[in-house]
Amino acid sequence: MIQNIKGTKDLLPESTKNWQFVEDIFKKCSELYGYEEIRTPIFEKTEVFSRSIGENTDIVNKEMYTFEDKGGDSLTLRPEQTAALVRSVIQHTLARNISDLRLWYFGPFFRYEQPQKGRQRQFHQYGAECISSPNPEADVEIILLANSIIRNLGIENHTILLNTLGTNNSRNIFKDKLVDFLKSIRTDLSEESQRRVETNPLRVLDSKDKKDIEILKEAPSLLESLDEESKLHFDRVRDLLEKNGIAYQIDNKLVRGLDYYNHTVFEFQSNALGSQNAFGGGGRYDGLFAQLGGKPVPAVGFAMGVERLILILEESKKLEKIYYSVDAYIVNLNPDKFEFSLQLSETLRAKGLKISQDLQHRSLKAQMKEANKVNAKYSIMVGDEEINTGNMTIKHMKTGEQSHVRLDQLANILLNSNM
Ligand code: HAM
Repeated sequence: MIQNIKGTKDLLPESTKNWQFVEDIFKKCSELYGYEEIRTPIFEKTEVFSRSIGENTDIVNKEMYTFEDKGGDSLTLRPEQTAALVRSVIQHTLARNISDLRLWYFGPFFRYEQPQKGRQRQFHQYGAECISSPNPEADVEIILLANSIIRNLGIENHTILLNTLGTNNSRNIFKDKLVDFLKSIRTDLSEESQRRVETNPLRVLDSKDKKDIEILKEAPSLLESLDEESKLHFDRVRDLLEKNGIAYQIDNKLVRGLDYYNHTVFEFQSNALGSQNAFGGGGRYDGLFAQLGGKPVPAVGFAMGVERLILILEESKKLEKIYYSVDAYIVNLNPDKFEFSLQLSETLRAKGLKISQDLQHRSLKAQMKEANKVNAKYSIMVGDEEINTGNMTIKHMKTGEQSHVRLDQLANILLNSNM
């Protein structure tokens, strides 16, 4: 038997319902904030990602699905959206300095990681990017949009971690201080962190190694190296978040796994997830447009991992509310009079009701079982008596409550049922 690729998942009908529920919320919330959808190709020239995410990040170093196509070009399945979106915005000159460009996206992404709970090789992200404003108000709008999605999904007990990397200038000053410190304790660090001292020292702060975490308590703090501009930006972000009732925790070791950030960075975490506890993250990336060959345009954005959102919702039983696949399942008791059921289905569908029915000429019992299995809200019995009298028998499948309804009343009753 041929099986799916390790780290990918088939989404079967029972879970696509949950996905559609979540996707509806992405769309609704994006529109509430005036964001428009963008869809870019699933693969790009490799340099789109290697020039932006950073040559020394795990994503570019170890995780990209890169291949040469038949024309000899190096192509990569997108590991994230921001770089590809910026490529598209530059190409189509969508960004104008004086007006804000607000974009959202949803789709599959690819990273060659070790699969585990909440970590796949093909996963999905929803994200939003606010382009053109250098101001802290844009950072806050982006966090408010993310928060509105979290609220609308009904996610509780999550944490927003907040940090700033400051301007390039203060980041460089900090980097020098950090490297001095790391070199002084280098041999005590884990192997991975020792390697990163050379290649990507800021990422050492993100180490998950227990001993590293202890040693790094003594590391210089990024917040202490901030210049005036960085402080002002960060203070305004914090002030506006507080005025909007958004609770956050400062985490001065949060540097994120992609190199394009400056100023504000943030992450959303949930304990429901286990070790892969970040269900979203983002930040400001004012240098990315120039890095990808465009004129400099400031921007800020975030992305959320959809598999992880769904895991949180499943864990908190938020998806256990009843999803009906159809409003009614027609149980046909006389195969010779099937035309009546077909016509009834069409009449009800024309009123906006979702209807399904048995096409196998099965017994009453088997059809009722099927109505249950497909999660129909009601079943409608159609036998000789119903056809002759126009008096239909309907049954609410969850409560078992049965009633007789006149044919001309049927659509209204089904439409107005809020059980
Ligand atoms: P990221 O932190 O790399 O950021 O990914 C965002 C989210 O995608 C993560 O928090 C996680 O929930 C999910 N995710 C990442 N890798 C996997 C995986 N292998 N399996 C399942 N879920 C995963 C970015 O991608 C940035 N582009 C975010 C951003 C947008 N920054 C600015 N704008």
